[in-house]
Amino acid sequence: MSNVFNAVRISDHVHWVGAVDWEIRDFHGYETGRGTTYNAYLVTGDETVLIDTVKKPFFGEMMSRIASVMGPGRIDYLISNHSEMDHTGALPETVSALKPKKVFASAGGKKALFDHFGEAFDVTTVKDGESLKLGGLDFTFLETRMLHWPDSMVTFLANDRILFSQDGFGMHLASSERFADELPDPILEHEGARYFANILLPYSSLVLKLLERVTALNLPLQILAPDHGPVWRRDILRMPGLWGGWARQKPTAKAIIVYDTMWQSTGRLARALSEGLIEGGISTKVMPLEACHRSDVATELLGAAALFAGSPTLNNHLLPRMADLLTYLKGLKPKNLVGGAFGSYGWSGEGAKQVKEILSAMGVEMLFDEINVRYVPKPEDLLKCRSLGLEAAERIQRSVKDQEG
Ligand code: FEO
Repeated sequence: MSNVFNAVRISDHVHWVGAVDWEIRDFHGYETGRGTTYNAYLVTGDETVLIDTVKKPFFGEMMSRIASVMGPGRIDYLISNHSEMDHTGALPETVSALKPKKVFASAGGKKALFDHFGEAFDVTTVKDGESLKLGGLDFTFLETRMLHWPDSMVTFLANDRILFSQDGFGMHLASSERFADELPDPILEHEGARYFANILLPYSSLVLKLLERVTALNLPLQILAPDHGPVWRRDILRMPGLWGGWARQKPTAKAIIVYDTMWQSTGRLARALSEGLIEGGISTKVMPLEACHRSDVATELLGAAALFAGSPTLNNHLLPRMADLLTYLKGLKPKNLVGGAFGSYGWSGEGAKQVKEILSAMGVEMLFDEINVRYVPKPEDLLKCRSLGLEAAERIQRSVKDQEG
């Protein structure tokens, strides 16, 4: 019987047997405009090993792809690199259907799988750095705690020189193409950056440690097989190299001005501020929340030296979309930013002050006291914003030069 969904061979012993999610547009707050994939990999030696599964609704698609390689039957082993449900939602059904002799996970993975699924199946733990021969092939496990959860690990298959990197070096990108070299570079770079900015940014220091460790191990890599997005069989150090740059969070001469507005007063302040920054030679992106998703702002912050945020006051508070954005950005823990707050008000004026408080709590160095304008900015208010933008530009240029020195 033919299958609706077929596997894709990626090396001598490995087939991709995952699922393509063309629909998903929200991944716990991160807007996934191009959908995603949940990659699972079937390794066939003398025995069969499945590495990760898929999100629960895609169980049938994965099973169809598996059946296209080996027909209906059993697998011998299952390796769970990461317990988040985009990779384990289908795990209990997979275990019931394919009856592996063992399910392997890190010690943290065993705990997390128990917390998700109870005692639905036994889990055998593997240690950081441990190697196992399964089906005559050589697997090594490396823990990558907090990348992206405490349980995370990656698996290296020495025979085919593949690193199954789980969330690592992935991206949310649904495509018919399975390999990165079949996709346009600007899309790969944009979606890679978006994924890093919206998921990995808080763990930047751990990313740098992992990159150091993998470099020191000098693994003979030929293929990088993440759990989301395309498989890399050429230029495989490209995404790790980009991750290293993003994780260092080195500021460049770039500023983000993000604002929300009711009657364009705060919007006019944003544009006046941007004119000063631009005159001072800073590449400036003005991002109205009416038009920009929080994930867009997080992505644009990669490489930025400055974040300016503006909100009017509504019922004694900043506007809800700005509260949403700042809550999200605070959790992502961006580093090395200077910035400022601005806004307009009618009678009480808390909005800009609250923006300033949140930016300060995020560790953003404030370059000026909050700009807070009653009702409608006058020409002198706009000139003041422009001039503060120019002063901020000089400060940003100095700090970028210092970083280079
Ligand atoms: Fe793709 Fe952290 O799950």
